[in-house]
Amino acid sequence: MTETAGIRLYIAAGCVACHGADGRGSTFAPMLPGHNAEQVKRYVRNPVGKMPRFGNDKLSDADLETPAAYIAALPVPETASRPPDAVEAM
Ligand code: HEC
Repeated sequence: MTETAGIRLYIAAGCVACHGADGRGSTFAPMLPGHNAEQVKRYVRNPVGKMPRFGNDKLSDADLETPAAYIAALPVPETASRPPDAVEAM
């Protein structure tokens, strides 16, 4: 897997529309850096909030690996004030 593939799928799958470039988040969705690949994969398959579910039909397990790894590798901004964490609430 390459970093380019990860960012391409992050964009192609539509994550970018809500979570923004570099996973920085938006007024609608939280920032993503700080989540490991397992947390990302778990949340994408079973979101508990407003996020649409991405099932196997939309994103295969193989295609989920690369954006999950991409997100896990994003540097966490030092000034990050993290929003309520849906993953940890699961
Ligand atoms: C339609 C907008 C939208 C899209 C598209 C979207 N998300 Fe989300 N995502 C959200 C919102 C809103 C939340 C906050 C929790 C909730 O309401 O479900 C969230 C939460 C998350 C979380 C948990 C964050 C936390 O702090 O607990 C992860 C991980 C995540 N999204 C990853 C992704 C990935 C990967 C994709 C692309 C496959 C994606 N999201 C696509 C809106 C979106």
